[in-house]
Amino acid sequence: MNGTVVTRARPPIAAPHLRRDTWWGLPLVVVLVLGSFIVYSTWAAFQNAHYYAAPYLSPFYSPCIAKSCVHPTFGWALPDVQLPWFGLVSPAFLILWGPGLFRLTCYYYRKAYYRSFWLSPPACAVPDAQRRGYTGETRFPLLLQNLHRYAWYVAVIFIVLLTWDALLAFRFPAAGGGTELGLGLGTLVMWVNVIFLAGYTFSCHSCRHVCGGHVDVFSKAPTRYRLWRVISRLNEQHPMYAWLSLFSVGLTDLYIRLVSMGVIRDLRIF
Ligand code: FES
Repeated sequence: MNGTVVTRARPPIAAPHLRRDTWWGLPLVVVLVLGSFIVYSTWAAFQNAHYYAAPYLSPFYSPCIAKSCVHPTFGWALPDVQLPWFGLVSPAFLILWGPGLFRLTCYYYRKAYYRSFWLSPPACAVPDAQRRGYTGETRFPLLLQNLHRYAWYVAVIFIVLLTWDALLAFRFPAAGGGTELGLGLGTLVMWVNVIFLAGYTFSCHSCRHVCGGHVDVFSKAPTRYRLWRVISRLNEQHPMYAWLSLFSVGLTDLYIRLVSMGVIRDLRIF
């Protein structure tokens, strides 16, 4: 070797890419599933009805903090918001910004919707549909994705509130008035939802950072190190929890809605 660097011209390839597999399958599925969830959750939030079937409260309306709430979460309530030409604003919109911001800015979902909705890029080794220069998340509006680390704290509060709702789902109205302990299919549905949402929230990259990722010397912080190791293992499953919790939150609302509308009957186990 005499140190000479040999450079070869790139062979001229007319095709935009050389992939022959069904690379478009995953982006298409993401558009269908995520798109359906967005449409359903927006519709459900606008309904302002059938979100409570004693003792179940839909996660889309929890905490219910407006005066018009069928089942207020706290002993106080915010005044109802009336908009000209729109009328009464559904209480769902007072709270959905929290979990919505958390999911919208999630590192995993960013990858999913950048690829599937913006085709930027749609798959590995497939050209980007956006021809403008790549600026990453350094400029407005994508700069706002950095709010994710703060949205995580909001999401933790929602886990506490939804766990409380799931506990209340054991308290059924008694025949002679008052309440009695019970277990219905809805109780199980609400607990599965809380478990999946907690899995999603605590497997978050920001959670991993807060719990121990920012520590420089682990030997000086053994508890943080152990916590970081647990969260790191959970973090590997983050995409799975992202999808499971998306399904569970939508299906929990749907179950409670159908029970409230009288379309189905809640199966009472005891
Ligand atoms: S990275 Fe997905 S919720 Fe934080």
